[in-house]
Amino acid sequence: MAELTIARLLFATTASVHYLFVATTLGLTPIIAVLSTLSALRGRRQPTPIIDLLARIYVANYGIGIVAGLVMELQMAMLWTGPGTDEYGPIAGLLALETVVAFFLESTLLGVWLAGRKIIPLWLQSAVFWGITITAYASMIFIVTANSYLHDPIPTPQLTPAAFWALVDRPATVWPLIHIAASSLIIGAFWCATFGANWLRTDPLSVPGRRLIRIGVGIAALASPPLAVAGFAQFDAARPEGVPTDEPDWLHALASVMILTGMAIWLLTWFVLGPLTLNGAIFRGKRWLALLRIGLWVPMPILLIGWIYRELSRQPWFIVGRVTVQEAASPIGTPAMLTLAAVFAVLSAVTLAVAWLVFRRVLRGHPTTVVAS
Ligand code: HEM
Repeated sequence: MAELTIARLLFATTASVHYLFVATTLGLTPIIAVLSTLSALRGRRQPTPIIDLLARIYVANYGIGIVAGLVMELQMAMLWTGPGTDEYGPIAGLLALETVVAFFLESTLLGVWLAGRKIIPLWLQSAVFWGITITAYASMIFIVTANSYLHDPIPTPQLTPAAFWALVDRPATVWPLIHIAASSLIIGAFWCATFGANWLRTDPLSVPGRRLIRIGVGIAALASPPLAVAGFAQFDAARPEGVPTDEPDWLHALASVMILTGMAIWLLTWFVLGPLTLNGAIFRGKRWLALLRIGLWVPMPILLIGWIYRELSRQPWFIVGRVTVQEAASPIGTPAMLTLAAVFAVLSAVTLAVAWLVFRRVLRGHPTTVVAS
């Protein structure tokens, strides 16, 4: 039992660390693609300072996200190799699609975009970046579809095109997809607002700083309604009826924190931050700017709460009604499990420390991170 608890904690830790970077990627790519396209349409040949800043954050985030993803995959390969069953067929197919179609394509396009940034015109850079955005979202579709299969499996031993479509085209997949896309956009929006507020700290009249805040508040205001609607719809859509699960009671408290934060972001961006941004008062309000500077730390933990809620509410199942978590775990014994626990704890801590150093290095000297003396 203790072994299983450790295995679950290791899954939760490594997947949570990875997910923070994934949500940032999903949040920032469409924003960069749209800003880049708008600048190209206005006749610019090279990126604006805002695009340059967001691209730096995105590239640092993507690199660390891959490292965190490898740690998570290693953990899954070592700790979750219970006896094979046909039930795993569709998930294996979806994970292969994610790696081959989306991940390799996304990395290749990112390489092309990085290599061409100083050489190719902005309209072509924008086109390549749309490719990156599409592949990132394709990744999301494959992973969320696999997760939806775990929550509500359909009887199919293999991932045929018909089975793939049957899995995607149903409320158990569509609502989580909308919820995750909207929550990621909120993360992207908070990155913009937080860095915009930091920019104003060094230069209170900075035009790019003000634009970043407008972009952040605007996107958070637009993404909040679909986030809430899809979130409430998920309660009914996530799992098949009639299969008992043992959700702990305290999980509802976590869900309440997520819902209250989502509603607070909606109300604040529509009725307080939105109007203050439109009339420009937010740029002069020191308290508002101070709040925006720490704003990113609000939705980040909520992402993890949402994800933990989704995974825990499925217990004791790995695949609901078919395979339990106990059955899915690798039978490796307590000494091996404790050794792996130490290894993965160190790997996760190192990943976070490297992330901190990489972000510092990538943003070093940028006005959003240099504090005025
Ligand atoms: C507006 C109110 C919100 C409602 C009603 C809501 C509702 C839900 C529900 C019901 C689930 C899990 C369903 C299941 O058990 O499978 C969920 C998952 C999740 N939520 Fe929320 N949520 C809200 C706000 C937020 C916010 C503000 C964020 C983060 C910015 C967020 C991020 C997530 C994430 C990342 C998941 C896990 C998704 C997955 O793994 O499929 N939610 N939410």
